[in-house]
Amino acid sequence: MSAVEFVRVLPLTDLPDGERVFLELDGQAVVLLHLAGKLFAVGDVCTHDNAPLGDGEVQDGQVICPRHGARFDLSSGKAVRLPAVRPIPTYAVRVSEDGWIEISRTPKE
Ligand code: FES
Repeated sequence: MSAVEFVRVLPLTDLPDGERVFLELDGQAVVLLHLAGKLFAVGDVCTHDNAPLGDGEVQDGQVICPRHGARFDLSSGKAVRLPAVRPIPTYAVRVSEDGWIEISRTPKE
């Protein structure tokens, strides 16, 4: 099994709780969110009809697609409300000893 490769993104101090940032990871649009002390990195494209997802409202650990209201669990990526049925990719996130947020280069399996 190969080791997961992490990419340094930004210092944790630059992403206060409640904020989110958009980035590209190997050509994939990703949104990184800081919510109630936890960090989540998920794909920024809704699997229903490819709308940008990252601007969506977040409730109960789920992001809501602004276009048609599908909901995705931020931890698992699972689609939990129609019209989406396929999951979004999720990425492992960690904070380095020197305070940088790092994201896995490839989505979790
Ligand atoms: S594009 Fe997201 S629910 Fe339709």
